[in-house]
Amino acid sequence: MSANNHHARYAHIVGWGKYVPPNVMTNEELAKKVDTSDAWIRERTGIRERRIATKETTASMALYAAQEAIEVADVDPNDIDLVIVATSSPEFIFPATASIVQDQLGACNAGAFDLSAACSGFVYGIGLAAGMIRSGIHNNVLVIGSETFSKLLNWKDRATCILFGDGAGAVLLQGSDEYGGILSSVLGSDGSGGELLEIPAGGSKNPTSIETVMANMHFVKMNGREVYRFATRIMVDATKEALEKANIPAEELDLLIPHQANTRIIDYAAKALNLPPSKVFVNLEKYGNTSAASIPIALVEAIEDKRVNPGDHLVFVGFGAGLSWGACALEWTEPTIRRATTPQRAAQSKLRYQWSHVKSLGHRVLRRVDAGVSRTLDRIEGKKNGNGHEE
Ligand code: ACO
Repeated sequence: MSANNHHARYAHIVGWGKYVPPNVMTNEELAKKVDTSDAWIRERTGIRERRIATKETTASMALYAAQEAIEVADVDPNDIDLVIVATSSPEFIFPATASIVQDQLGACNAGAFDLSAACSGFVYGIGLAAGMIRSGIHNNVLVIGSETFSKLLNWKDRATCILFGDGAGAVLLQGSDEYGGILSSVLGSDGSGGELLEIPAGGSKNPTSIETVMANMHFVKMNGREVYRFATRIMVDATKEALEKANIPAEELDLLIPHQANTRIIDYAAKALNLPPSKVFVNLEKYGNTSAASIPIALVEAIEDKRVNPGDHLVFVGFGAGLSWGACALEWTEPTIRRATTPQRAAQSKLRYQWSHVKSLGHRVLRRVDAGVSRTLDRIEGKKNGNGHEE
């Protein structure tokens, strides 16, 4: 995608929201589970604490973040064309987490699918959504990053369990003829590095068995040093490429919102890109690495901290398992002061989601009744024709 097509529509971020579980796990608490220390974790990663889901799941957190984004955008869920959930910790292998979210939002006219590109997933989703909007295929696309990595970690492996946390972030992208919004998209993959960061079992290659469970093959496995080397290089290259494609001179970048994996990786990239700390957003000390959710959570907090203003040039850059990476450059256009939610609007939204819930239950009941009636009719028909297809 390039910024040179003046006739294209533009994809603007008009809504944003996040959800993080209230349950906090500090480094000190972690040090009681594995042989590590607060000092080691802070020094090597920058992380102080992370959020761990208790009652929440990937779908429920995605839903909360999406509802907030829809609220900010003030868009009717019926007008959403597509729901993308970027996640590597989906609710199920199928159905897609995105379909669960679509149903609970009452987004009756939307398609929905999950996007698997690990920590790069949200940036991949943005590139995809922007492409669909700019081509005129869709007008309102919800892109959500939601993860519960806490369920995929071996809590006895200190090399991985200290790094990750749970949460969700969402944006609503909308088409407009006005210049701005997502101006470029860089997506990359180097599958030769797949084994550096993987969950070896649970898929079709190594289906779940007693052996895979006993061998801890359902947990995250990582070669930290190699991923680190890859991450530092790719963050710099992908950011430069995204700026170039969007025709934004490097010195006009106002805020880099990188994937929140490790402050050392971010500091390295900032230095190589000649960016002062004021131009780089970091919040990983509070949440650790929330994978596909880290960039949208960071965006929402950057907005709350008043570090995003209309006219600003932003870059989102992510990297992760695959190996994969992605970056996009954008010109922010939307006012960032939230309209205060009136009690009336809040009540309306609540009612709308409750109604969606009731409708969804109604559909389930009708489907059962329909299946029962069809079976009975088939049986009668079978008897009549004497082909006896009876159970
Ligand atoms: N506490 C204490 N000591 C530890 C811990 C721990 N939690 N973990 C490792 N160590 C020890 C190691 O055993 C090693 O000891 P040794 O020297 O006696 O062998 C020593 O600390 C140094 O280990 P390294 O692995 O070299 O430590 P490093 O400085 O590389 O930091 C880290 C490790 C933080 C994992 C780093 O490599 C990193 O951040 N890598 C990138 C990981 C990443 O970002 N992954 C997510 C990608 S996104 C996605 O798609 C999911």
